[in-house]
Amino acid sequence: MSLRHFIIGLSVSFGLAWLSVVVIPFVKMRNLAPIALNAEEPDSGPYFPKRTGRVANGAEVYAANGCYNCHTQVVRPTYAGNDLFRADWGGLKSDPERGDTRRETNAYDFLGESFAHIGVSRVGPDLSNIGRRVEAIYSPENPARWLYAHLFNPRYEADREKSTCPSFRYMFEEKQVGAALSEDAVTFSDGRSPGSDTTEFLPTSDAKALVSYLLALKKDQPVPASIDFSPKKAEEK
Ligand code: HEC
Repeated sequence: MSLRHFIIGLSVSFGLAWLSVVVIPFVKMRNLAPIALNAEEPDSGPYFPKRTGRVANGAEVYAANGCYNCHTQVVRPTYAGNDLFRADWGGLKSDPERGDTRRETNAYDFLGESFAHIGVSRVGPDLSNIGRRVEAIYSPENPARWLYAHLFNPRYEADREKSTCPSFRYMFEEKQVGAALSEDAVTFSDGRSPGSDTTEFLPTSDAKALVSYLLALKKDQPVPASIDFSPKKAEEK
């Protein structure tokens, strides 16, 4: 090897690393403006939902029942998977007020959680935004009831008859029914209640906490441009 080849080889090895670790990131990030925080407008800065009280208890019920074995809570960046294009996983494609709110998960999404339930494998759908999906799409009129019914019998609805989500029936207690069904009693979308003529199934405190937690899963708040890599954001700029 001549001295000339050696020098060229050396420049290429170091030059490429310098280009990809220093120059390209610098060019991409030098114009990022800081986001202004405005206390009057809740959407003007990063916003973190409630993660205490019953929601935190619900996260423990989620862990204790192994939901994380089949459900992830990570909407992957597009270079690592096709999550943003799965129906409403990363947010809503057309939110009535905010338009397209889909985005990838970032580390701040787990702020305030004592354990980040990113999940072990993905047998069922990602649940990062299940609260949003249930409230906007599956059952705007009574989201908690939809989740109770799903936990009680995931195979009841016609479009889910082959669901492999386990039934968590033990989170419900069969009780004598009063003059009318209780507000919390399990009822399916066709109005049927699973109890006998004189009984109804009521959620235990575990089921209530779990459902509060699931309804709080709305990891689609606006984020600063520096950590928002959604394709649509790139187009807007
Ligand atoms: C054995 C794997 C498995 C486990 C464990 C599991 N699920 Fe599921 N889950 C699934 C599958 C598969 C689906 C998709 C079929 C369906 O919609 O029911 C699903 C669907 C769901 C849905 C509906 C999601 C949507 O957007 O349609 C919710 C909510 C849900 N599961 C909650 C839970 C909760 C809460 C737990 C723990 C208490 C849990 N699951 C445990 C496999 C699992």
